[in-house]
This record gives sequence, C-alpha cells and structure tokens, in this order.
Amino acid sequence: MIKYLGSKRLLIPQILEVVNGLTGVTRVGDLFSGTARVGHALKGAGYEVVANDHNTYSHMLARCYVAADARSLTEEASRWISEFNTMDPRGKGGWFTEVYCREARYFQPDNGVRIEAIRQRIADADLAPDLEAVLLVSLMEAADRVDSTTGVQMAYLKSWAARSANRLELRLPRILPGQGEAMQMDAEAAARQMDVDLIYLDPPYNQHSYLGNYHIWETLVLWDEPEVYGIARKRIDCKERKSAFNSKPGIRPAFERLLAAIDTPWLLLSFNNEGYLSPEDLGQLLSSRGEVRNFDFDHPRYVGARIGIHNLKGEKVGKVSHLRNREHLFLVGPRR
Ligand SMILES: C[S@@+](CC[C@H](N)C(=O)[O-])C[C@H]1O[C@@H](n2cnc3c(N)ncnc32)[C@H](O)[C@@H]1O
Repeated sequence: MIKYLGSKRLLIPQILEVVNGLTGVTRVGDLFSGTARVGHALKGAGYEVVANDHNTYSHMLARCYVAADARSLTEEASRWISEFNTMDPRGKGGWFTEVYCREARYFQPDNGVRIEAIRQRIADADLAPDLEAVLLVSLMEAADRVDSTTGVQMAYLKSWAARSANRLELRLPRILPGQGEAMQMDAEAAARQMDVDLIYLDPPYNQHSYLGNYHIWETLVLWDEPEVYGIARKRIDCKERKSAFNSKPGIRPAFERLLAAIDTPWLLLSFNNEGYLSPEDLGQLLSSRGEVRNFDFDHPRYVGARIGIHNLKGEKVGKVSHLRNREHLFLVGPRR
C-alpha cells in the first residue's frame, strides 16, 4: 500500500481485536478511510464494510480494497497488469512527465513516461469502475515504490532517492473476495447515510492537508492536467478544498457536528498525542454518546519524521522533536 501519513498499519491488530470483541456487529463504516487498509482488514475478517473519504485517490483505494470483488476481477486485472508491465513507451512524455519529473523531481523521467503511458491506456480502455479502480491503485502503488520523497508530496528530495532508479513495476493489489461499498463524501454527510453497527473514525488531527500531501495521486486518478503552483507543483484546488479537521478553531465544532450526525450503537476512534484536541478533550466530547473506553499504544512516528525535516528543496533543516507518539483508541458504546 502507499506511504501515508497517519496510516493505521501498525494499529490494525488492535482495531480488529476491539471490533471482534463486540457482539452484534456485522456492518462497519470507515469514515476517513485514507489508504483503506482498515476497511480492507475488516473486510478480510468477514465484516461488511462501507468506506468513505473525500479525496478521489482515497476513494479509488476504497473501491479497490473494500468494494471490488476479487472473485470476478482477479483474472482480468492480472491480464491488464501483465500488459502494462511489458509496455515500452518511448519519447519524452507529456504533461505529467514535464510537471512531476522535470519541473519537479518526484519520479525519474523514464518512470514518468511509463506512468503516463499506462494511465492513458487505462483512460482509453473505458473500463468498468471496479476494474479501473484496481488498475489505478496498482499504478499508484507502483509509482509510490519509485518516488523520490520522504512520504509526502509537499517536497521532493534534493538528490534522487535510490529507489527512484528502479523500473516501475505494477503488481496486483491484494483485493479480497466479497463486496463492500465505497463513498466519496464529506464525513458528516456520509455518516448520515451509513447504515452500519459501528463507525470507525480516523480524522486528520493537525494542519497538514491530505490533498496537499498527496496531490499527485489526486491528479493521477483524476487525470485532469490541473493548473499547478509553487516548487511542489501542487494542484491549484489544494487552496480551496479544505477539511475542517485541519483547522485549529474548526476541529472541535466539526467533531461536535460529526458526532451529532452519527447514529450507530458503536463508535471507534483513533487519535494520537500530536493533535489539536487532547485525548482528555476527546474523551469528554465522546462521553455524551455513551460509555467511553480508552486503549493506548506507543508507536514510532511516520517515516518522514525519522528521516528528518526538509525544506522545499529537499535540504535537511531543523530537528525532529520526538520519534515516538501515543496512539489512542476510544471505544464508545452503550452504557453497561
Ligand atoms: C488519518 S487519515 C486516515 C488514515 C487511514 N485510517 C489509513 O489507515 O490509511 C485521514 C483521512 O481523512 C480524510 N478526510 C479529511 N477530512 C475529511 C472530511 N471532512 N470528510 C471525509 N474525509 C476527510 C483525508 O483525506 C485522509 O485520507
């Protein structure tokens, strides 16, 4: 799966343990799905899953890992992926290669030309939505393995990352049998529509916008050649498409509205100690909904923190304050 800030890769066993311990839970909603790895794990554990995220690349990940049914897609997707891996596009590429490999240096141009040719082939093929999602995710993940960043697209490295010299190679994403549902809405609106027994909440917790951090994935999926700005060549709509959860004054009222919109017996929420809201604030907000249980875990910080702080030219500046943080899981349910 792609490198993703706040990804719950390490927390999945604990999330599964908590959900598996509840009786009467068969349908689960993941309201801020990101890489969709939580929904994927829950689907793998036998739950019916609905995943939602407001960004298009995350929606594509949710379509692939939660909605798509491996039983009907594996063969066809594998055929396409073999074809993509043997394509040998020539020339200097077009818009994508120019913007992200020459004006900026997120991928080596040879790989940029391949990414671009495969993306165009997917667009021209006019595929069924779930198959298209699986192939787009396969391409996104292949591009992620040869990128030259610290894991966010706010900046690229000054010198090429060693992995960026590898040839782009697509793999079949680990899709699962069975159907799920993927939505692309604001969390509050999605919460009103989800008919589930438990909602898992993993919102952003600070000022860093996911669209700004992963703008190239948004453009790769939308394939819309947007106006871009700055050294990072971000999409111009990063300036307008904001989340209330990235705003210090906005996060508490956004949370209150979200909690009011949710009508499920169980709520499970992840939060860490780097957020605008303290675990104590959250515990208090959640207690209006039922009995709150708090589980917490100590984790290494995201890979970028371990590599260091860089400016937009990829030069190392400043010091990272700490390398571990505390992840909290709050379970809210009926009072005993
Ligand atoms: C912490 S990440 C989720 C990570 C995910 N659990 C994982 O393991 O990959 C938060 C996600 O919330 C999404 N998001 C932010 N604000 C949103 C909103 N108002 N409605 C829906 N999604 C939102 C972001 O796009 C981002 O993918």
